[in-house]
Amino acid sequence: MSIRLESERITTSAETTEALAAAFGASCHGGELVVLSGDLGAGKTCFVRGFVRGCGGDSRSVKSPSFTLLHSYGGRRTVHHFDVYFTKSFEDLVRADLLPVLAAGEVALIEWGERFARELPVDRLEIELTHLDPQTRRLRFRGAGARAVRWLETALKAHDSPGAIGS
Ligand SMILES: Nc1ncnc2c1ncn2[C@@H]1O[C@H](COP(=O)(O)OP(=O)(O)O)[C@@H](O)[C@H]1O
Ligand SMILES: [Mg+2]
Repeated sequence: MSIRLESERITTSAETTEALAAAFGASCHGGELVVLSGDLGAGKTCFVRGFVRGCGGDSRSVKSPSFTLLHSYGGRRTVHHFDVYFTKSFEDLVRADLLPVLAAGEVALIEWGERFARELPVDRLEIELTHLDPQTRRLRFRGAGARAVRWLETALKAHDSPGAIGS
């Protein structure tokens, strides 16, 4: 049986979503894959912005890469930000070196990544963002596989405890 963990958090502003994401960026080791799902405006790009900051990169330049597939950011680990809304086939992700960058210890976050749920590596963190009201979002986390489960536990603990990393 595969190892899985599910959890959720509610955020009440873009800043609190970024702070939550920063805890994940601060605690990644390299090789992690994050699949972000949720409607337009749910906060996927906002999550990536906080993540890049937590990972020590320049988050001011983070914007949605819809028309380019990929933006990459430096930091403690290189963070690759994909948006596959307009991507027709998983081959496009393969051509963008998704698998080699993960193997090299870099990190990938994929907006709308659930579109390729069957093709993507199974050891991954899935985050589903739901718009509850103009300022409120629910983030539902699902860790699949040992690495993702450990990371999810560590990041949520760091975020929830006083003096959390990246908040
Ligand atoms: N709690 C919240 N979390 C994230 N974004 C929020 C929140 N409340 C309001 N917002 C706003 O919602 C929008 C989210 O946009 P974005 O991150 O680009 O969404 P997506 O990438 O999912 O289309 C931003 O304008 C942000 O300021
Ligand atoms: Mg976006």
